[in-house]
Amino acid sequence: MNRRPDAFHAIDHVHMAQALRLAERGLYTTQPNPRVGCIIARGEEVLGQGWHQRAGESHAEVFALREAGERARGATAYVTLEPCAHWGRTPPCADALVAAGVARVVIAAEDPFPQVDGHGIAKLRAAGIEVQTGLMRDAARELNIGFFSRIERKRPWVRVKLAMSLDGRTALANGESKWITGEAARADVQRWRARSSAILTGSGTVLADNPRLTVRLDESDPVHAYVPPLRVILDRHLRTPAGSHVLTDGQAPTLLLHAASVTASDSRFQHVECAIAPELGNALDLTEVLAILAARDCNEVHVEAGPTLCGALLAEGLADEVLLYIAPVFLGDSGRPLLHLPVLTEMADRWRLQTVDQRQLGEDLRIRLRPRA
Ligand SMILES: NC(=O)c1ccc[n+]([C@@H]2O[C@H](COP(=O)([O-])OP(=O)(O)OC[C@H]3O[C@@H](n4cnc5c(N)ncnc54)[C@H](OP(=O)(O)O)[C@@H]3O)[C@@H](O)[C@H]2O)c1
Repeated sequence: MNRRPDAFHAIDHVHMAQALRLAERGLYTTQPNPRVGCIIARGEEVLGQGWHQRAGESHAEVFALREAGERARGATAYVTLEPCAHWGRTPPCADALVAAGVARVVIAAEDPFPQVDGHGIAKLRAAGIEVQTGLMRDAARELNIGFFSRIERKRPWVRVKLAMSLDGRTALANGESKWITGEAARADVQRWRARSSAILTGSGTVLADNPRLTVRLDESDPVHAYVPPLRVILDRHLRTPAGSHVLTDGQAPTLLLHAASVTASDSRFQHVECAIAPELGNALDLTEVLAILAARDCNEVHVEAGPTLCGALLAEGLADEVLLYIAPVFLGDSGRPLLHLPVLTEMADRWRLQTVDQRQLGEDLRIRLRPRA
C-alpha cells in the first residue's frame, strides 16, 4: 500500500529519522554498498536497531532483528532502503523480516538495484506484512546519492572540489597554491574524500603537484574508519612520471586511464592498474570514463583536478555537485583561473547553479552547489 506521506503517524517519523541517523554511521565504510539503518519498534518503544557497517557484513535489518529477538513478532520495522530479496554475500533481509514475524514494514526509499527493485516489497506483502513506502524518501536517497546515481544513471555522482580566492583565483601565476584555504577547510576536504569511492584527477595536476590523493585525517578527527578511495588519473599519453606518489606509495589503489594508442608496459606502472578509455576529440571521453567507474562500483567520485578537467566536467554537464571553498584573500589578476570553460556570447547560456548549503570553516566559506535542472 503506497499511502500518502501524511498517512504516516508522528511516531513513524521519529523512528525513521532515527533509522536515518543510524544509516549515516555507515557514511564512510559501506562502499560500495548503500548506507542503511533499521529500527524495530512497537509504538514508542524501540526494540532493536542496526545499521549496515561494511560490505560483506550483515545488513541493518539483521542487527536490529537480533537485538529485538522474540519481541519483533507483531512489531513494526523501519528501514531506510527496501530490504533485499536475493542471496548476495548475506541472506535476503526480506526473508529475515518475514521469519521474525513483524507485522508492518515502513520503507523510506525503494531499492533500484536490479535484484531487489520491488522484489523485497513483494516478498513482504506476499507474507501478509503491511508495507508502506516513501517516508523521508528524499533524505534516504540523498544519503545514498552516489549509489542511486550508479544504479539508475549508470554513472557515479560526481562532486567537484574547488578552492579559490575572493577574486576567483586558485594559484599564483607561478603555480604556487599552498595554501589558499585554512586548516578547517582542508580537514573538511579530507572527509569528503573519505566518503567517496574514487578521487579523480588529470595528468596536469599529477605533473604539477605530484599529489598523493589519499585520505589524511587528523587523529582527533571523528572519522576513524573509511574505505580508501580508488585514485583515478586521466592520462591519455601516459605522462605520469616514474616515482609519482600515485604510482609508488601503495597507500591506495590507483587506476590510470589512457588512450588506446599507448601501451602501459614499462616498469613505472607495475604496481598500478592501467586501462584504456575511449577518446573523444583530443581528450578521454568523460562519459565513458564515468561509465568505467560505475562498472567498478564507484558511487561518489570526488574530483580534485585543475581548471582543464574540472571545466570539462562542468561544460559537459557531468559535474553533479560543486564543493567550492572560498578563502578571504585576493590573488590578483595574474592568478590562475578556477575553470577553463568555453567562451560565452550570450548571458542566456551561462552555467547556472543553485546553492545546496553553505558553511563557515575557520576563516573560509564552503558553498555546495548543484547545476540547476
Ligand atoms: N586549487 C585546487 O583545488 C587545485 C586542485 C588540483 C589542481 N590544481 C592545479 O591545477 C593545475 C593543473 O591544471 P590542469 O588544468 O593542467 O590539469 P588537470 O585539469 O588536472 O588535468 C588536465 C589533463 O587531464 C587530461 N585529460 C584527459 N581527458 C580529459 C578530458 N576529457 N577533459 C579534461 N582533461 C582531460 C589531459 O591531459 P592528457 O592529454 O595528458 O590526458 C588534460 O590536459 C596545477 O597547477 C594544480 O596545482 C588546483
